[in-house]
Formats: sequence, C-alpha cells, structure tokens
Amino acid sequence: MTKQLLVVENLDINFELHEKNVHAVRNVSFKVAEGETLALVGESGSGKSVTSMSVMRLLPEKFARYGKDSRITFDGISILDADEKTLRDLRGNRISVIFQEPMTSLNPFMRIGAQLIEAARVHNKKLGKKEAVQKA
Ligand SMILES: Nc1ncnc2c1ncn2[C@@H]1O[C@H](COP(=O)(O)OP(=O)(O)O)[C@@H](O)[C@H]1O
Ligand SMILES: [Mg+2]
Repeated sequence: MTKQLLVVENLDINFELHEKNVHAVRNVSFKVAEGETLALVGESGSGKSVTSMSVMRLLPEKFARYGKDSRITFDGISILDADEKTLRDLRGNRISVIFQEPMTSLNPFMRIGAQLIEAARVHNKKLGKKEAVQKA
C-alpha cells in the first residue's frame, strides 16, 4: 500500500478578528499519498489558500483558531502540535510552497528550473548539482 504522507482531518479554521469572526474552513478532510498529486478546486474565497497554508502552519497564529477535532498529520508529525523547530525543519525541506502570482513569488529574470534548483540546494547543502536538477 502506498504511504499516506499528508492526512488532514476535520480541518476547521476560524479567524478571530477584533471586529468579526471569519469561519474560513469548515470540516475539511483529505489525504495525500506519497507520489500523489491533489488539487483543491473551488471558487475564490472558498478556503483553498487557508487550507494549504495551515499545512505549513503559516497562518497568523494570533488570529487563526483550529477546531478542537482538527488534525493535520505529515509523515506521522502532528502539525498543529509541532514546535517551531520541527516546523522550521519541515518548511522548505519536506513541504514547500510557491506562492500565488508568479511574477512576485518567482524571479522573472531567472528560469524556473534554476530557481527550483537553488531552493533545493539552499535547504540541503549536501545536494549535488545533478541530484538538484533531478529533483527540480
Ligand atoms: N489572515 C486572514 N484573516 C482573516 N480572514 C482571512 C485571512 N485569510 C483568509 N481569510 C478569509 O478566509 C476565507 C478563505 O480565503 P482563501 O483561503 O484565501 O480562499 P481561496 O484561496 O479559496 O480563494 C475568505 O473569506 C478570506 O477572506
Ligand atoms: Mg487562494
């Protein structure tokens, strides 16, 4: 059986803002196996970005509230309970994000391959050029 790498269960996210409460994600569950590709599809404002950012715990901690039954597990690590050090080791190494709007998140003067190679090698100093190209 292929290994489930990412398991999201009953994900519920509220933003507790001063003036109001925004219920951004309601009871979302999905799994991603090793080597599998999953697309989240939905209209603008339906919670795709908030769901994705929560997997890396990149939501503003001051305002984001996760449901008590919400669980995000990446390769056995409970993301919602993980400490900063664990998260830092995961981010960019095992879980990465290319932010929306390629003209601002990618450098238009560099080829995309070169940017992927650079990111991979910054995060893993031992990664050789050839391996980095393969990974990219
Ligand atoms: N940092 C935030 N503070 C408050 N509300 C937010 C924040 N980020 C997103 N939201 C709200 O959460 C909802 C889902 O947004 P989002 O995940 O960006 O939608 P999508 O990516 O599907 O277009 C929207 O109502 C949005 O306004
Ligand atoms: Mg979005």
